[in-house]
Amino acid sequence: MTDVPQPTDGSAVATAPTSEAALGSTTDNGAPAPSDRNSLTLGPDGPLLLHDVHFVNQMAHFNRERVPERNVHAKGSGAFGVFETTEDVSAYTKAALFQPGASTEMLARFSTVAGEQGSPDTWRDPRGFALKFYTDEGNYDLVGNNTPVFFVRDTMKFPHFIRSQKRRGGSGLRDNNMQWDFWSLNPESAHQVTYLMGDRGIPRTYRHMNGYGSHTYLWINAAGEKHWVKYHFHSDQGVESLTDEQATKIAGEDADFHRRDLYEAIAREEFPSWTLSVQLMPYADARTYRINPFDLTKVWPHADYPLVKVGTMTLNRNPENFFAQIEQAAFEPSALVPGIGFSPDKMLLGRAFAYSDTHRYRIGPNYLQLPVNRPRSAVNTYTQDGPMAYEHRADDPVYAPNSFGRGYADQVGEVEDGWETDGAMVRQAYTLRADDDDFSQAGALVREVWGDEQRELFVKTVAGHLLGGVEGEVLERAFDYWRRVDADCAKRIEELVRADADLGGPGGQDDVAKEDAEGAFRESDTH
Ligand code: HEM
Repeated sequence: MTDVPQPTDGSAVATAPTSEAALGSTTDNGAPAPSDRNSLTLGPDGPLLLHDVHFVNQMAHFNRERVPERNVHAKGSGAFGVFETTEDVSAYTKAALFQPGASTEMLARFSTVAGEQGSPDTWRDPRGFALKFYTDEGNYDLVGNNTPVFFVRDTMKFPHFIRSQKRRGGSGLRDNNMQWDFWSLNPESAHQVTYLMGDRGIPRTYRHMNGYGSHTYLWINAAGEKHWVKYHFHSDQGVESLTDEQATKIAGEDADFHRRDLYEAIAREEFPSWTLSVQLMPYADARTYRINPFDLTKVWPHADYPLVKVGTMTLNRNPENFFAQIEQAAFEPSALVPGIGFSPDKMLLGRAFAYSDTHRYRIGPNYLQLPVNRPRSAVNTYTQDGPMAYEHRADDPVYAPNSFGRGYADQVGEVEDGWETDGAMVRQAYTLRADDDDFSQAGALVREVWGDEQRELFVKTVAGHLLGGVEGEVLERAFDYWRRVDADCAKRIEELVRADADLGGPGGQDDVAKEDAEGAFRESDTH
C-alpha cells in the first residue's frame, strides 16, 4: 500500500486490464469514450451535466437491456451442436437433414415451464426441449418437452392452463389449489400429471433427460408417400432424476444448477448426446387406430409402432453470449422444411401461430435476421422493412408477381404435406375412439412401467403437493382423479393427506419432506 491519499473514486488505483486498455473504450457511436468511471460534474462535488452524452447513453441503454422474458419457459439454458443422421430413413422423409450421412449444425435450449427467469432449475415442472436445425433447406425447429404427452389437447385451453400454474392475480403467489383445480377439472391432464409427479418429474441435469417432439408430425418421402411420426431423443448419458428433497435443497443452494451443469460439462468437453429414434405410423392407419394418434395426451404404444433409429445429436459448443444467442433465440413449431409437415393435432396447429407471433412481440418483427435465428440457406422473401431491418434486397421488386425476374411462388392444387378432412365447422372435442379415455395410459404408467419404489415416491410426491394448500372441493376432486388413475395409489395418497390434515394441515408436508431429506442426503453422494 502507498502513503499517498487515494481519491474515493479509486482513480489512482484501478488499472484496466491490458487487453481492454489496448482496445480502448468507445462510445456506442465509436468515438473514444471520455470515462467509464467518472460522470461529468460541475466541480468534483457538483451536479451532473446533461450533455455528458456518454453517461446519458449508458443510463438510457441500461434501461432497455432486457427483452420481455418468454411468457412460458422463461428460465432456460442452451448450447450449439450437430445432428448426424447415421441411419437411412429416406423411405419415410425427404428432409435434407434426415438423409443418410447428413450433418446439420443446430442449437438446443432446455427450460423449465412455469418459473420466471431467476427461478430455480430444480423445481418440479416439465422441461422444454427446443431444437433448431440450420438445414440447407431452411431452419427446422422441433420444440418439444422431456415428456411425450401434454396436459391439454386443445390450444384454446393453453392460456388457462398456464395461468393456473403461474401466479394468482391478487397475491401474486403460486397456488397449488389453483393448479389442482385446473387439473381436476380437465381430466385429460391425468397422463401428464402422473408423469410429472413420477420419478422423472425432476431431471437430475438437462443432460440426463430424454426429449420428445410430443406431437405427431407428418413425414413425406421423395415419392410423396406419407407417414405420421413421433420423435424420441434418448439421452446417451442415461435418464437420472432428483427426488423432491434433493431438488429442494439444490434450489436453495444453486438456482442455476442445471444451467451450470450443462455449461461446465461442455466446457470440460464432455459433450452430451442424444439418440434420435422415431415411431412411424403408415398414413392410412390414422383413420382406424384404436387411439386418436393426434391426441397430445396419449402415447403410441411401442408394441404397435416400434422405435426406428435415425441419428445422434451432440451438443459441443457453449454460447459465447447468453443474451444474444440463447435469450434472443426464437424457436417456433411453424419452422418446417420440405419432407416434414403438421398433423391435425389441435395443439400443434395452435402452436403454429403462437410462437412466431410471440417472437415478433418479444424480440421484434425482424427476429429472424439475428445471427442465432437467421437461416443458413438463402432467404428470398417479400417480407420487408420494420424496426431494426438489417437484411434488404436493394432495389429489387417489392411485390409479386413482377416482370423483373424476382421469384414468384405459385404452388397450385393438393399440397404435398396436407391431409384430408371432412365435416361441418364445429366446436367439439375429438371424436372418441375405442381406447380414448383419459385415465388408462396414466394407469398403465403407474402399474406396468413403474416398480414399487417409484409408486411409493409418486404417492408421497402427490400427497406432499396436495398438502401444500389444496382444500375443500378441489381436494375431493383430486382424490377422485387419482382413483380413476390407480385405485391403490389413490387410497394411499388420500390416507397420507387425511392423516396430515388431522394433525393440523399444511406444515405436515414440511415434516415429511424434512425426514425424507435427511434420509436422502445421508444416502446421496451425488451432489
Ligand atoms: C415456449 C405457447 C404448447 C414447448 C412457448 C412460448 C409460447 C408458447 C408463447 C414462448 C416462446 C418465446 O417467447 O420464445 C404455447 C402454446 C401452446 C404450447 C400456445 C399450446 C398449444 C407447448 C407444448 C410443448 C411446448 C405442447 C411441448 C411439447 C415449449 C418450449 C418452449 C415453449 C420447449 C421454450 C422454447 C425456447 O426454449 O425458447 N410456448 N406452447 N409448448 N413451448 Fe409452448
